[in-house]
Amino acid sequence: MNVDLAGQAAFVTGAARGIGEAIARAMAANGAMVVVADIDGPGAESVAASLPDAMALTLDIRDARAIDGALAATLARYGRLDILVNNAGVNTMAHRVHLDAFPTEEWDRIVDIDLRGTFLVSRALSRPMLEQGRGRIVNIASIVGLVPLRLQSPFVAAKAGVIHLTKSMALEFGPRGVLVNAIAPGSTLTEGTRKLFYGPDGSFSAQVRNLLDHIPLGRPAEVAEIAAAALFLADPENSYVNGHTMVVDGGWIAGYSM
Ligand SMILES: NC(=O)c1ccc[n+]([C@@H]2O[C@H](COP(=O)([O-])OP(=O)(O)OC[C@H]3O[C@@H](n4cnc5c(N)ncnc54)[C@H](O)[C@@H]3O)[C@@H](O)[C@H]2O)c1
Repeated sequence: MNVDLAGQAAFVTGAARGIGEAIARAMAANGAMVVVADIDGPGAESVAASLPDAMALTLDIRDARAIDGALAATLARYGRLDILVNNAGVNTMAHRVHLDAFPTEEWDRIVDIDLRGTFLVSRALSRPMLEQGRGRIVNIASIVGLVPLRLQSPFVAAKAGVIHLTKSMALEFGPRGVLVNAIAPGSTLTEGTRKLFYGPDGSFSAQVRNLLDHIPLGRPAEVAEIAAAALFLADPENSYVNGHTMVVDGGWIAGYSM
């Protein structure tokens, strides 16, 4: 996917690896100046160092004061902000249990990062975009925010929240020139999820086979396929899609596969 983002500054959270890294790379490849923000500072540094015009920031999106500092650093370096991608997010791996046994601390951790963090970053970073009357915000949700899976209730609830937060922001910011949309990825191969899917020899378990059988395209997404959707939604040429959740899941939730 090719768009023209020359002269635009993009801020991507959780950009040290995975989907966020792919989005940061795609934005840079299409001409944007990119702020690579992540709680993993060295990871962010390493991604930023490989891009033509990028800045790394160590940022925990739960920290409102640190977010103000990140915005100030962005404006000091680039003098503008045109695109925000709220990508940083976590799911629960250690606590795949029913709701009646779900630990409060793990619920709080996930909702705090995935939903409240998206709110905090959006609140601060939307301001320069609203002032200039132009901008694009892309929130990375998940298909589980639309069609829940079992054993990950805080992630499901937080991502459903992100989808409605996106709509709420679209209502408020659209009239002020800032378009807000979400992407709902299905299973996407990253360094982390690849290990869950495939053994070292490329083999996969019956459980994974079952999951793949529910995806009409028969495979998980590559990160570049999620980044392509982010490019479209961030592109100034997208001038009328607002409040939308773009499902990028190979058709997984299009219907029930028998
Ligand atoms: N990979 C998938 O299958 C999949 C599917 C649906 C949705 N998603 C969503 O896509 C986004 C990216 O997922 P991924 O698979 O690339 O994850 P990942 O774990 O590979 O990367 C997430 C990044 O976010 C950073 N991060 C975590 N907590 C943070 C915090 N408090 N502040 C700042 N940065 C923080 C991590 O350091 C990491 O670099 C997430 O919002 C995730 O929920 C992923």
